[in-house]
Amino acid sequence: MASKSSSLSWLLLINTLACILLVDHSASQDDRKAYIVYMGNRQLDEASTSSLHTSMLQQVIGSIGPESLIHSYTRSFNGFAAELTKQEAQKLAGMDGVVSVFPSEQQSLQTTRSWDFLGFPQQVPRRPIESDIIIGVFDTGIWPESESFNDEGFGPPPTKWNGTCQTSTNFTCNNKIIGAKYYHQNRPFDEVDIMSPRDSDGHGTHTASTAAGNLVNGASLLGYGLGTARGGVPSARIAVYKVCWSFGCSDADLLKAFDDAIADGVDIISFSIASSFPRPYFEDSMAIGAFHAMRNGILTSMAAGNDGPGLATITNFSPWSLSVAASTIDRKFTTRVQLGNNKIYEGISINTFDLKNKTYPIIYGGDAPNTTGGFQGSDSRLCNIEGSLDENLVKGKIVFCDVLNTGEVAFVAGAVGTVMQGPDDARASRTFPLPASYLDLQDGSKVYSYIKSVRSPTVTILKSEEGNDTFSPYIASFSSRGPSPATFNILKPDLAAPGHNILAAWSQISPITNIKATPMSAEKNPEAEFAYGAGNLNPLKAPNPGLIYDIDALDYIKYLCSGEYNTKLLQLVTGDNSSCSEATNGRVFDLNYPSFALSTPPLKFISQVFNRTVTNVGSPTSTYKAIVTTPLGLTIKVNPTVLSFTSLGQKLSFALTIEGTLIDKFIASAAVVWDDGTFQVRSPLIVSVT
Ligand SMILES: *[C@@H]1O[C@H](CO)[C@@H](O)[C@H](O)[C@H]1NC(C)=O
Ligand SMILES: *[C@@H]1O[C@H](CO)[C@@H](O)[C@H](O)[C@H]1NC(C)=O
Ligand SMILES: *[C@@H]1O[C@H](CO)[C@@H](O)[C@H](O)[C@H]1NC(C)=O
Ligand SMILES: *[C@@H]1O[C@H](CO)[C@@H](O)[C@H](O)[C@H]1NC(C)=O
Ligand SMILES: *[C@@H]1O[C@H](CO)[C@@H](O)[C@H](O)[C@H]1NC(C)=O
Ligand SMILES: *[C@@H]1O[C@H](CO)[C@@H](O)[C@H](O)[C@H]1NC(C)=O
Ligand SMILES: *[C@@H]1O[C@H](CO)[C@@H](O)[C@H](O)[C@H]1NC(C)=O
Repeated sequence: MASKSSSLSWLLLINTLACILLVDHSASQDDRKAYIVYMGNRQLDEASTSSLHTSMLQQVIGSIGPESLIHSYTRSFNGFAAELTKQEAQKLAGMDGVVSVFPSEQQSLQTTRSWDFLGFPQQVPRRPIESDIIIGVFDTGIWPESESFNDEGFGPPPTKWNGTCQTSTNFTCNNKIIGAKYYHQNRPFDEVDIMSPRDSDGHGTHTASTAAGNLVNGASLLGYGLGTARGGVPSARIAVYKVCWSFGCSDADLLKAFDDAIADGVDIISFSIASSFPRPYFEDSMAIGAFHAMRNGILTSMAAGNDGPGLATITNFSPWSLSVAASTIDRKFTTRVQLGNNKIYEGISINTFDLKNKTYPIIYGGDAPNTTGGFQGSDSRLCNIEGSLDENLVKGKIVFCDVLNTGEVAFVAGAVGTVMQGPDDARASRTFPLPASYLDLQDGSKVYSYIKSVRSPTVTILKSEEGNDTFSPYIASFSSRGPSPATFNILKPDLAAPGHNILAAWSQISPITNIKATPMSAEKNPEAEFAYGAGNLNPLKAPNPGLIYDIDALDYIKYLCSGEYNTKLLQLVTGDNSSCSEATNGRVFDLNYPSFALSTPPLKFISQVFNRTVTNVGSPTSTYKAIVTTPLGLTIKVNPTVLSFTSLGQKLSFALTIEGTLIDKFIASAAVVWDDGTFQVRSPLIVSVT
């Protein structure tokens, strides 16, 4: 655990770094690049909004070529994306009605590719079910022929559906996949990309099936994890918005997908896309899109990101979206490696390849540099630089590498398999394009010594076995951590969901209902709530929570007023007469969030009140008592301590007060539970020294 002064310095450092990144979007004067001009809520009809964009652009750059305007956002909010020079972007930023102008960056997908699952055969009967829930999935597209998306038993799309299907491109929708579109800002297509909503990567198919795949009985990945594959809501409909390509997912395209999805009538928007650095809310395509989605009653669920385990690495932190951390489930795939001397070491990976115990020569990557390509042993030992391995030396052999990598470099060079070594890394539990296993450094050093001490070292890699990760559940090290760079007084991430060792769609998924909702603990994750938020999602209890903390657009507007947002900006964003002065009591502590977060200077006496309102959605008549766990050194009081409801939908307020001084601790965790004997409504609470 960091000491108080060092914890202070890292936070300052991170903030400074973020500021530098935020101001320095430098581009040379003549370079045109894609920018987004965000203009808040839509004020006029679609046609007038669109001609407004054209005339603004004309004013700034003169005549508009076909390449100038990338997208016009006219359906759900107001703005456009265009190719601009830095000067032109600055000019536009000063124009009437413009909230922000920021470069359209390439964002990245937050999970490893699973293309090797593609084409995986499946057989399967399924239950006829219907539902009106439409999940908008922003990802790499979808493979519509997968059994997970068979529409047998589904009726026509819900009447509210207003979206379309891009069928011109050898892609057909059905009553399960009810809409599909692709977004590809003016740029040439890469040969690996398919100009259609079809998924050439595998990721989008995987996430769509995790969210809403049909029940697929007896599904397994070549025999592993036999069980019933199913998405969280198997009866839901899927609307596909393909925004991610081999180059990444551009802000301009992401915003267009939001503009469409909101008007198309989706209920939920889901994606695992994140920026590599934090941005202000209204210079962040995903926060802007989620804001307008929220105003239309649509929840946006986003991956917290894959930049953990450092603190404040989360980049999807807008309070009007759900930020989901990646937890592990009690499933682990181990892959044994047997050396020519019969020593066996256990590594991690999902290895479905069967070498049938046949041994192959093993070579150290550092001994096989492609010198004609200008590489040295210090490059090739990593096996992660394209072309760095000498094909002649590794062909037909198993390559030993010094870091975890995708296996692609060894595969392309003709290796039969790869054994990697490195520190404990959760990302290793995934598939590779060739037989592979990832060893810890201790076992790795033994393999290295063996290679160096024997004239003809050999090895074989066994098929994976499904183990049991007894430490589960905990947050994967790669999952991005809070606190939120925007405010330390709102807890982010919100909650955790299994994001690791999940094999969906083309393969198997552990039935989601088997996941224990066991409380997370700070023993395995010292970052506590900054790692896991409220803890693992409980899909059994979530639909019937008893009490809810309801937040509407006005609450968020009050919150924005508590920050640096002024009335003018607010009116543009909201498109109404919202005024910060009217919402005088807009304190961050009163945003009706279902968690409590407070940052405090070291050794300072704290006295902070939080106001909350809960809505009864459980039993009409119920009496809830507050149960508070209090960390050492702090007093937490709830007033009143009893809430008596007499009807459904009834709202009651309470105030929570934290007092005391945090000593010898950087983070203190607690929880407030409203308990009526049937429902236990738990809110995490975290106090951090900054
Ligand atoms: C359309 O896609 C299907 C499925 O991938 C493929 O089998 C078929 O050959 C494609 N047809 C054309 C005309 O590309
Ligand atoms: C459906 O989409 C069209 C085209 O964008 C739009 O004009 C219309 O207002 C939308 N309908 C609804 C109910 O949102
Ligand atoms: C392969 O080797 C492993 C480990 O030595 C052993 O348990 C297994 O029985 C062997 N399989 C075959 C097919 O020989
Ligand atoms: C070495 O790298 C060069 C340049 O990337 C490549 O053309 C060549 O095929 C490689 N040679 C071997 C033996 O791998
Ligand atoms: C893993 O171990 C725990 C505790 O021993 C047990 O409850 C659980 O069912 C096991 N899970 C699997 C997948 O075997
Ligand atoms: C905002 O206020 C002005 C002047 O009071 C009024 O004319 C206008 O209709 C209001 N606009 C909205 C969207 O409420
Ligand atoms: C918070 O709630 C308390 C008790 O209900 C009330 O007295 C106080 O005015 C509220 N504070 C704010 C800022 O709304």
